[in-house]
Amino acid sequence: MDPAFKGRTIVLGISGGIASYKACELVRELVKVGAGVRVIMTKSAQEFVRPMTLQTLSLNPVSTELFDLTQESQIGHMELARVADVLAIAPATANVMAKMAHGICDDLLTTVALATTAPIVLAPAMNVHMWRHVATQANVKTLAERGATIVGPEAGDLACGDVGEGRLSEIPAILEGIGKALTRQTLSGVRILVTAGPTREPVDPVRYLTNRSSGKMGYAIARAAQRRGAEVVLVSGPTSIPLPAGVRVVRVETAKEMHEACLKEFPRADVVVKAAAVADFAVKDAGKKKIKRREQAPSIELVPNPDILADMGRKKDRQILVGFAAETHDVASYAKAKLKEKNADIFVANDVSRADAGFEVDTNEVELYFADGRVERSGLLPKDEVAGKILDAIEKLLPAIHQKANQMPA
Ligand code: PMT
Repeated sequence: MDPAFKGRTIVLGISGGIASYKACELVRELVKVGAGVRVIMTKSAQEFVRPMTLQTLSLNPVSTELFDLTQESQIGHMELARVADVLAIAPATANVMAKMAHGICDDLLTTVALATTAPIVLAPAMNVHMWRHVATQANVKTLAERGATIVGPEAGDLACGDVGEGRLSEIPAILEGIGKALTRQTLSGVRILVTAGPTREPVDPVRYLTNRSSGKMGYAIARAAQRRGAEVVLVSGPTSIPLPAGVRVVRVETAKEMHEACLKEFPRADVVVKAAAVADFAVKDAGKKKIKRREQAPSIELVPNPDILADMGRKKDRQILVGFAAETHDVASYAKAKLKEKNADIFVANDVSRADAGFEVDTNEVELYFADGRVERSGLLPKDEVAGKILDAIEKLLPAIHQKANQMPA
């Protein structure tokens, strides 16, 4: 389940191209994240995929005809236009987009597209020359100017043998486009720097010191922020989870690299959320050669890493700084102390000794400590929803920060 999709209705238009079969996967994913899906297929889409497949996957009747008495009496075209929280068309062919750009409605899909007031998301897929044609480019521009979200297409090998732009975007990117269209753009124009994951401190070329962070909490914050319209840069330590679509990612390994990347991004950021579990120590003089097994175990000397958040706390002017405290005991007192020491605006405390919170798991329960002494509790929730609560808290601080920025000399 995904909070942005839960209980929302996506009317998914499928137009005819070789990528039509990929819409089956999109329907499955939409159902998985909790959306209700109503599929409309054009005549040519039915040449590639059978409506029965989409009906089975979407758990709803598939609509294909504008003038079919049964379909029109069950869920007519106006009803489809009305129930849509988003109208997504994937794949969107050159033909369908040309008709939409010119207000032509000669079948069910284009009629619903003209009749709906819901946001529209288009995922084009076609031959590279069709995509580059001035007519297609002009139509896409028109539709984007009218507010449609265009996801892709991507470049690569095309089914027709050509190489270039025209491939349907990957399903996660289309899902993110729909997720964003479903979300109020409350962070539009805000630049957020998020850190996530662990750092790795080399011992020698084959070994390193690290911690249990999976990156899930930080990635959930990055994804939720970009959905709300923020421009997000994610400085990520090594993780194996999929990168959130629509987010600029800077990959780092060590705390030193994270420090460098963060300080480079910091001046442009309005908000910093430091969910990364940064190693407090690095190995002094990490070996260039593999340490060999010998009688006596080698001793490893540690040196402190830079405290990235504290550095940003010293430098901050307009920025909202959000730190995380990963604690196993005395959670509240450590979080309050870190909030002060690092000159942060919010500290998010989690008890990492719990099995259902903190490292690796999909859920978390946090307490938010504010610089003005307030405390908010999230309750145990999926990390996506915890991310939403953290962003809600940040949004409430934004007007004050903007006021401060406006008072600063140019
Ligand atoms: O990644 P997941 O598996 O989803 O797990 C999520 C999480 C438990 C990692 C996350 O919720 C969390 O608590 N992240 C912060 C972990 C941490 O390093 O906490 P800390 O109390 O040691 O550090 C306090 C703050 O200072 C953190 O914001 C940290 O990013 C920052 N810090 C710490 C050390 C350092 N050298 N530089 C820093 O900036």
